[in-house]
Amino acid sequence: MKYRKFGREHFDVSLLGFGAMRLPIIGNDTSEIDEEKAIKLIRHAINNGVNFVDTAYVYHGGKSEIVVGKALKDGFREKVKISTKLPTWLAKSYEDFEKLLDTQLERLDVDYIDVFLLHALNKKEWDRIKELGVLKFLDEAIEKGKIKYPAFSMHDSFEVFKDIVDSYDWSMCLIQLNYIDEDSQAGIKGLKYAGQKNIAVAIMEPLKGGLLANPPKEIQEEWDTADTKRSAVGWSLSYLANFPEIKVILSGMNRVDHLDENIKILSECDSNSLSELELNLINKVKNMYNERIKVPCSKCGYCMPCPAKVNIPYILNLYNMGYIYNDITSQAYIYNKMLQEDSKGSNCVDCKKCEEKCPQGIKISEIVKEADREFSKITDFSTMRWYNTNIN
Ligand SMILES: NC(=O)c1ccc[n+]([C@@H]2O[C@H](COP(=O)([O-])OP(=O)(O)OC[C@H]3O[C@@H](n4cnc5c(N)ncnc54)[C@H](OP(=O)(O)O)[C@@H]3O)[C@@H](O)[C@H]2O)c1
Repeated sequence: MKYRKFGREHFDVSLLGFGAMRLPIIGNDTSEIDEEKAIKLIRHAINNGVNFVDTAYVYHGGKSEIVVGKALKDGFREKVKISTKLPTWLAKSYEDFEKLLDTQLERLDVDYIDVFLLHALNKKEWDRIKELGVLKFLDEAIEKGKIKYPAFSMHDSFEVFKDIVDSYDWSMCLIQLNYIDEDSQAGIKGLKYAGQKNIAVAIMEPLKGGLLANPPKEIQEEWDTADTKRSAVGWSLSYLANFPEIKVILSGMNRVDHLDENIKILSECDSNSLSELELNLINKVKNMYNERIKVPCSKCGYCMPCPAKVNIPYILNLYNMGYIYNDITSQAYIYNKMLQEDSKGSNCVDCKKCEEKCPQGIKISEIVKEADREFSKITDFSTMRWYNTNIN
């Protein structure tokens, strides 16, 4: 495993961090974590050099922190930095910040949290919590020894990112970045800006929620033209590791073979090591994806639960897959034949609760209905090429 100095702090962090947002689950309910598997997986990561485990109050319906806490028993706690995130939107008063933090300490069953993030900030929420005194709360939490390194994650423009960066003495920021998203949200500009200030940058969605891991044939053929052969995941992670400002890349892994592959890749990557030819190839693939992607959804699940029971991430994923693989018929088959009637996009009641929570700003209520119309009109499946039976 490669390690990098954590910005201005005096410790090194593994280039691969374990993201506990997509732990193995039992059945289709994301709040039903398969604890035994999840604990084994997290410990396997740590035994193989991962020293950064990231969770959040809201992941897996509030159970991720509990399972991470259990995984870190038996001497594992001392080997890692724990990073978790404050659901600021649940704080209606100044006192609520500390109450939430205390719940998180209790769930994780630890005396302190290493990296403590204000979760998924955007301009509106940032303005609201600044007014509520969140920065004073962070100072106090550090003084009381409940947290060590203040940080934030963000889904908004570069301008908002810059404003947040300039407002406090942050140790780390967590931004969404992969070769497709380099110009959206904080983007490369934000990465460089935080890097200049010696703030450690952590990355979420390095594989765009898994989408970049399984390229369609045409994109795989493009990758295969390179002299140095890499898997699609290898290209995605090497692209990020190439930036010296990036200190830890979080991937939400739920399979040991994925974990092992990611450990291997990030044990072999160095910063500033990709050639111009390789960077040009990545740029070419980026353009190929951008021509195909219908919705910038990464299946993070922040939009759920839907009051009308629409399975939003699942539908948006099918819709994307249809366009990326140029095979709408296969996805329509799954939608029409396998998805429960009450989970379909036609049930959307336009309450837009999901849109308030979507980090990508997707107009979900429009798109789930659009997908429903497009899928429902397909009744002849004879041209279907492939289908994915993994409904989750
Ligand atoms: N996404 C967000 O909006 C968000 C927000 C805040 C924080 N975070 C944090 O950042 C972490 C990382 O984000 P992310 O989970 O979106 O990361 P990601 O690496 O982009 O996506 C993870 C998914 O990629 C697939 N994958 C991972 N390694 C693979 C491999 N070697 N081969 C094939 N597929 C592979 C798996 O998909 P399958 O499960 O489909 O196989 C996995 O669930 C989260 O766990 C969380 O801690 C994320």
